[in-house]
Amino acid sequence: MKTYLVFVTCCVIGFSTFAHADVCSSECEDEFIYGAANCAEEGSDEDENEEGDDDEAGSAACAAADPPPDEQPSVPTECTMANAGRCECSSETNFTTYTWWLQGQQRCFTTYHPNIGAQILPVLFLMQCYACDTLSGLGMNRLNAAPVEAARRYGFAAVGLSTQDSDWTFANDGVVNRSIPQACGDEYSKDYVYLRHIMEFLEASTDFDHTQIYTSGFSQNSMFAAYAAFCFESNVVGIWQAGSGMVVRGKEPNSPQLEAECSSSSHKAHGTDCRDIQPCTACEYWPIYPCHSTTKPMIDCLMMYTNDFLSGTDDHMYDYLITEGHDARLLKFEPAENIAGGHSAPQQQYDWLVGCLGITAACTQECETSFGDCVTRKQASGLDVQRAFSQCIQTDFSTLTGCESGCSPTLPMLEISEVLVASMSHTENFGGSAEGSEAQPDGSICIVGSTQYDDQAASPPPGAENDVEATSPPPGAENDVEAPSPPPGADNDAEATSPPPNAENEEQDISPPSDSIASTNGFLAVSTIIPIMAVVWLIR
Ligand SMILES: *[C@@H]1O[C@H](CO)[C@@H](O)[C@H](O)[C@H]1NC(C)=O
Ligand SMILES: *[C@@H]1O[C@H](CO)[C@@H](O)[C@H](O)[C@H]1NC(C)=O
Repeated sequence: MKTYLVFVTCCVIGFSTFAHADVCSSECEDEFIYGAANCAEEGSDEDENEEGDDDEAGSAACAAADPPPDEQPSVPTECTMANAGRCECSSETNFTTYTWWLQGQQRCFTTYHPNIGAQILPVLFLMQCYACDTLSGLGMNRLNAAPVEAARRYGFAAVGLSTQDSDWTFANDGVVNRSIPQACGDEYSKDYVYLRHIMEFLEASTDFDHTQIYTSGFSQNSMFAAYAAFCFESNVVGIWQAGSGMVVRGKEPNSPQLEAECSSSSHKAHGTDCRDIQPCTACEYWPIYPCHSTTKPMIDCLMMYTNDFLSGTDDHMYDYLITEGHDARLLKFEPAENIAGGHSAPQQQYDWLVGCLGITAACTQECETSFGDCVTRKQASGLDVQRAFSQCIQTDFSTLTGCESGCSPTLPMLEISEVLVASMSHTENFGGSAEGSEAQPDGSICIVGSTQYDDQAASPPPGAENDVEATSPPPGAENDVEAPSPPPGADNDAEATSPPPNAENEEQDISPPSDSIASTNGFLAVSTIIPIMAVVWLIR
């Protein structure tokens, strides 16, 4: 058995990065970067943190409605001049912004339906806490914004969800454990109420299929997508979790705001020192534990770059989903030529999302072939592969032999854009409808929606053994152990044993950035990059 020391350079910038990395896909400049542009610089008088503690990673306040609007509806209501307040309201065709007031705050969400009034469509939730409710931050400010373009092309409705807090308020002060695995209820978080009101709105509508909801997000938003999906399990079919999965107490990697190590309030009060000053001994998981469902397995497509500082959180979520009989699909990507990877979503994110979740019927084999030919042809004429891919799937698609409009791209089609690390991925059910167990598996500790949980559950969570050996447990160690041969690209990694340029920072552990970085508003933090050396032990 040999041990390799592998260095992976990561850029950690706090939860704020989460926002930014989201941004760092191809749509970068035009779609997300201005996302929280209306976030106030910090400490806008009353609504902010009492002590002026500048450790409020994400709590930079968004612009408030000043003065408050004349009308303050109590249920989601179409935006008007009289009630718009701080919501940015879309006036584009087939977009509608809704607003209402919850617990003293004005909330907003925006829908885009490519066929409104003519067809009931499945729904994709776009979680975007950093957007501060702006349309650009939601990726819903124009018809060719990536999620909107995808909604039109594939035939689903998009719903953009956000907050004025720049962070989601996760349930039960961030405490999730085997006695409270799913803190779903109005009493647990204002954002649960926000979700509930949106679900009720969709249930009452004839344009949106509230039994075919998919939730999606990147990083913190991916965590919220998982929370929303399990809390509203009877509405939600599948989840797209990019750049994060689940954090588990005592295991690497940690999330920037140290969830599962500290309660939300402890982190708020003590910043990254919360682990020493007031650790959360009741915490086990975060953001939610994926209890077994007796009605249908949940589909969860987890996407991660191997050099993302949160790589490993996807494996945790994957393991627990499988333990509970769900349909988890794990997509591991590596950095490649022209693709830096790291904490970011994949190239062609919405095509991967639709393809993996199987929102529409899969494309035929004939289509695979003609699509491949299309990309090859365009590359031969000088286009880079991503551009060729976009053109073939967007503008040329209807002319390709065997390609049914709106069909879900298959794995071979998507891998023209980016190849998965096969040995670390799980794609058996890619694109299919939910598969998993209907009977509660042996290792399962809870049932979705049940209030009675097995407090006694004697069996430790999967992989708990690892904690013992590993003071700094290697991210993804479980996978590595399973895989006797090093994953493809291990060679690359091995080459990297010579320390990368930022080796000075080596001593810094993988813990999140210092308070000063995590502080301020997210967008200041974005410009500050802390390179971190993550030491990964690859065992074979
Ligand atoms: C808007 O909806 C109408 C009616 O369903 C549809 O015909 C039209 O193509 C849609 N336009 C856009 C840009 O979504
Ligand atoms: C779970 O968390 C709650 C606090 O929300 C705590 O009272 C309870 O003891 C915890 N249970 C376990 C098993 O840690």
